[in-house]
Order: sequence, then structure tokens, then C-alpha cells
Amino acid sequence: MDEKKIPSMEPDRQYYFMNCCKELILQRSREAGRTLTYNVQTFGCQMNAHDSEKLKGILDEIGYEETESENADFVICNTCTVRENANQKLYGHLGHIKNIKSKRKNMIVCLCGCMMQEPHVIKTIKEKYRYVDIVFGTHNIYKLAELIYRYLSSGNMVVEVLEKSDNAVEALPQKRKYRFKSGVNIMYGCNNFCTYCIVPYVRGREKSREPQEILDEIRCKIASGVKEVMLLGQNVNSYGKKFDYSDGKIAELTENQNVRFPELLNQVCKIDGLERVRFMTSHPKDLSDELISTMANNPKICKHLHLPVQSGSTDILQKMNRRYTKEQYLALVDKIREAMPDISLTTDIMVGFPGETEEDFMHTMDIVERVGYDQVFTFIYSKRTNTPAAGMDNQVPEEIVKDRFSRLLELVNKKSNERISRFSGMVKDVLVEEINHQDQAYITGRTEENVTVHFPGDANLIGQIVPVRLDSCMGFYYLGEMMR
Ligand code: 5AD
Ligand code: SF4
Repeated sequence: MDEKKIPSMEPDRQYYFMNCCKELILQRSREAGRTLTYNVQTFGCQMNAHDSEKLKGILDEIGYEETESENADFVICNTCTVRENANQKLYGHLGHIKNIKSKRKNMIVCLCGCMMQEPHVIKTIKEKYRYVDIVFGTHNIYKLAELIYRYLSSGNMVVEVLEKSDNAVEALPQKRKYRFKSGVNIMYGCNNFCTYCIVPYVRGREKSREPQEILDEIRCKIASGVKEVMLLGQNVNSYGKKFDYSDGKIAELTENQNVRFPELLNQVCKIDGLERVRFMTSHPKDLSDELISTMANNPKICKHLHLPVQSGSTDILQKMNRRYTKEQYLALVDKIREAMPDISLTTDIMVGFPGETEEDFMHTMDIVERVGYDQVFTFIYSKRTNTPAAGMDNQVPEEIVKDRFSRLLELVNKKSNERISRFSGMVKDVLVEEINHQDQAYITGRTEENVTVHFPGDANLIGQIVPVRLDSCMGFYYLGEMMR
């Protein structure tokens, strides 16, 4: 390869490597007498799901074809490391992939995502999983084609894990799961350092994208059929804060950095053709009155807030470094409900944080009782090496945690069923997503509150927003009927 020909600027550089890969993949598929296939396995959150769409975009572009099966020519696992069991699962899964690779000539195995940002994981892979071919982390997924090319032209394991992001390159292909809705990253990383959480270590410091870049990306997506966008960030409420977090110092401001999250939402809503805006995730400590009024006043913003509470105990919240009390959280919920009575509230709750007593746990049960969440994602605390909580005394015994967890689940299910039934008999706009998995005569969609509705209909309606009467509440979802 003539090094001088490689563009130094992005995204040209990646398009250059995509072309190089294309030729090599074409050659390999001619040899094999068929189109080569890829399989992407995604673990973890919405951020990872969206990253996987970027990986798929590049793999399509260089000539692979997607398959649901792991028996593929290129297998990539986009990993999560929020909880320890995710790590164990990946190692188990790799054993299975090794088997496939032993029978499949020229198969390429690739690992990426949050878990790869942990040095001990990289060490284990280099020592014990030599059949893995390409490894990269969270900061350089845009470089997939360059890394594949490096592997194809050397045949050696390629490992590139960066400690922090240089500048994420965005203008690259993406393959959307749904034609009519898409995630859009508005910021990367996290600065909150909750004491249990590994994310700030693996996703790096908070960094907001320029508003103009975000708006351009959304316009482009609308031109290709998108109606609903989900703005993504670990903590969207601190979007646009006036720091250059790459070195932790206050930096010169560009004009655009004065745009904070409510203003960004307003600008996004002005885009013609866009019908719905969602966002994820909000930290309660940063949720401003301005955001509440922006949501309340703007019909395009879906009335759904994911507001992780983690625990109902002020003592535990303090040990978690969440920077709000139980009372402050409840007052925030009241304020939100006053402005938007029917809003759907969802949350994350953890049980078994170090030092959690029965009394602390009862505060968590009390919060669930009082707030009335539409949905609660429940987790058992998992000790993550090198986080402050891992070194705390009083780790809670497993039997106690399990007992609390099942009591919590029972209450959560009861309360969310009660809460979701508030829509019974109402007519709601539903964005139709797919044919129902169980019954082909039904289609499935979501209301702005993110409530799932199944109703009779056909594939022509997929991607459309239609009025549906919510007839029977079946616990977590509704059965309904279209009203036109
Ligand atoms: N153990 C258990 N759950 C965790 N989460 C984050 N870190 C941990 C951990 N160490 C949960 C939190 C967070 C969600 C994405 O995952 O509830 O909101
Ligand atoms: Fe997993 Fe968190 Fe990374 Fe998402 S951000 S992939 S939940 S570790």
C-alpha cells in the first residue's frame, strides 16, 4: 500500500479504507463462491445498540451481508461491562465462537465496546483468546474499516484501544434497524462518577457534539424516512456544559456551546418532517425547570422521562454520589407531573448497594409506591473493580439481596400495571413498528409514552403514526383497535 495515498483527514480516511476493504472482501467472496456474511451481537444499552448500527453500516458498505446466525464470516460482539455477569457471559460466548471458527475457513472474530476499555480484559484476551482477530474500544468504532484492513493485510491480531476520544467521526454509513426511527448521539461519556458505576472509566469524559452537526444529521435522517429520533447521551441534561472535558479545564467557548439541552430540543423540534423526539438518559440532579416547560409546551417531544432513581434512601444515594435526596427526587416528580399529568416515568433501581439496610430498602419500596412508575429496570448491585463502591465495607449478603430483589419486583409489577391502565379506553397516536411476532394479523407500535399496543392491521402501516383506541390493558401492554 502506498502510505502517501492514505488521506489524513476524516471521514475521507475511513472511506478510503472502506474501498480498500471492499476489494479484499470481493476477492475473498469470489474465492468462496458466495457473498460473505457478518453477524453483530449487541449487549447493553441504547448507546451500544446505536453504535452497532454504525458497525453494520460499515460492514454493509464493504461488501458483507448481514445474517442472524453466529455461523458467519465476520462475527463482532459489541460488549457491555456495567455488571460483572456481562463479562462472564462474554467469555462463555467466546468459547462457542471458537468452536465455529475451528470449522470455518477465514472467519474473522472481532470484539469492541465498553468491556474492551478495561486493561485486564485486553490482557486476558491477548493471553487466552488468541483466536480473536480484531479488538477496539468505545472511542474508535468509526475506524472499523481501517482496523479490518490492517488485519486483512497482516493476518495478525489487531488491538487498538484508546484511553480517550480523539474526535469521533460521525459522517459514516449507518444501518438502521427501523427505517422510520433512529438514535442520534448528542454527547459522549459521563462526568458523574456514581460510586458503583464503571461507565465514566470506559466511556470517558463528557463531550457534547456541536448543535449544528446534530441538526444536520437529523435532517439527513428525515430525508431518508425517519419520523422519530431518540437523542442519546449518558446524561443529556448536561448537554452543552461549558467545559472542554478532554483535559478537565474550562475552555474557550464557541458560540454553539451556549446551546443547552432545552434549546437543542426546541431546535430539533423545528425540523420539518420530524414527528417525535425522545431522549435518554436524564440525571435527576440536572433536570431543569426549563426542560420541564420545554417538554410540556412542545407536542413533538414524547411525554416519557427515564429518570433513574437507583435507591430511595438518602443515605445510600449519598454513598452512591447521586447528589439528590429522596425528598428532592419526589419533589421533582411532583413538578414534572404537575406540568404533564399523564407523562410516563420509568426508572432504574439497584438493590444491595454496600451498606444497604432493611430500612434503606424500605425507602426504595416507598419511592416505588409513591411515584407509580410505568416501568422499572431492576438490578442487583454488582461490584465493579476499581470503582469507589468496590472498596466499601458492608457488602450485603447474597440471600438478603435476593430476598429484597424479589420483594421489589413484586411491588414494581403491581404498581406499573396499575399505572399503565390509566390509558384504558383512550385514543392515542401510535407509531407502527412491526408485524406482531405471535399473530401475523396484528401489528405492534408505541404511544408517545412508550406504551406498547398490539392491534389488527397489516404491513403497509409500518412506519406510520395512526390513532388507536386502547381497549384492554394486559399488564405491560394494550390490545387496541385502529380508529380510521
Ligand atoms: N451494579 C448494578 N447495576 C448497575 N448499574 C450501573 N452500574 C451498576 C452496577 N455496578 C445500573 C444502574 C444504571 C443502569 C444503566 O445500570 O441502575 O442506571
Ligand atoms: Fe454497557 Fe453502560 Fe457501556 Fe451502555 S454505556 S454499553 S450500559 S457499559
